Amino acid sequence: MTNGFFITKHLILKTVVITGAGKGIGLELAKTFASFGFRVFALSRNIEQLKILSLTNPTIYPVNCDLTDKNAVSHFVATLDNSLVDVLINNAGVLINKSFWEQSDQDWEIQIQTNLLAPVRLIRALKNHLSDYAHIVNISSMGGFQGSVKFPGLSAYSSTKGALAILSECLDVEFQKQNIHVNALCLGAVQTEMLDQAFPGYKAPVQAIDMAEFIYQFAVNSGQFMSGKIVPVSKSNPNNG
Ligand SMILES: NC(=O)c1ccc[n+]([C@@H]2O[C@H](COP(=O)([O-])OP(=O)(O)OC[C@H]3O[C@@H](n4cnc5c(N)ncnc54)[C@H](OP(=O)(O)O)[C@@H]3O)[C@@H](O)[C@H]2O)c1
Repeated sequence: MTNGFFITKHLILKTVVITGAGKGIGLELAKTFASFGFRVFALSRNIEQLKILSLTNPTIYPVNCDLTDKNAVSHFVATLDNSLVDVLINNAGVLINKSFWEQSDQDWEIQIQTNLLAPVRLIRALKNHLSDYAHIVNISSMGGFQGSVKFPGLSAYSSTKGALAILSECLDVEFQKQNIHVNALCLGAVQTEMLDQAFPGYKAPVQAIDMAEFIYQFAVNSGQFMSGKIVPVSKSNPNNG
């Protein structure tokens, strides 16, 4: 039986690479993909929670990787040997909440490195590991969605997320011959540590586990129907509840 996850009677696990899987939405994504039988390469700098999780979820492989370190990314990809990656979720992100006047070059650089350059490098490094019909899902933000409500303090973060969304449109065109699909999801508020940094005290209407389930469904089902799309995933913003 072929149902998109398993092929023929020999169980072949599909493989997902998830960045920023140490906490928040990424951690919930790792759990969700594993629960649906995926082999999960879960990348983060802090992998303590992932290690504990992998004790009861043997298809989760915690990978200690600082995505801003070129060598660490190449090292991870080298460990894949001949494995193919069916889904890549570029979820890792960093947000520095400061007014435009206070954001230093260093603040801009770390956000550009993490939110934009890290996905670029990882996708490039995975070139020979992406399976036919692989789906790359870039996790952007409503702040990076053209025409959305903007908030003070988030100019650098939102700009990098906007760039990541446009990158997704561009890559889809570049990858058409390889049947690789690329989409960006622009998330609205989800209750995580990052949300607390952006909007202290605000209670989001969506929990990380629920967003992870949505992203999982999108990642496994939507690549065949849509590609090169920037999709807003939001039902509210911190101004209206
Ligand atoms: N929460 C929201 O409301 C919201 C809204 C819109 C978009 N998003 C996006 O959703 C994604 C997940 O956000 P979240 O809310 O779950 O944030 P979070 O709880 O702060 O988690 C961010 C993750 O990124 C990882 N990370 C950061 N820098 C890294 C680096 N250099 N190398 C490896 N991993 C790194 C962090 O792990 P380590 O520090 O352990 O490395 C952590 O696992 C982000 O891209 C964010 O921009 C979130």
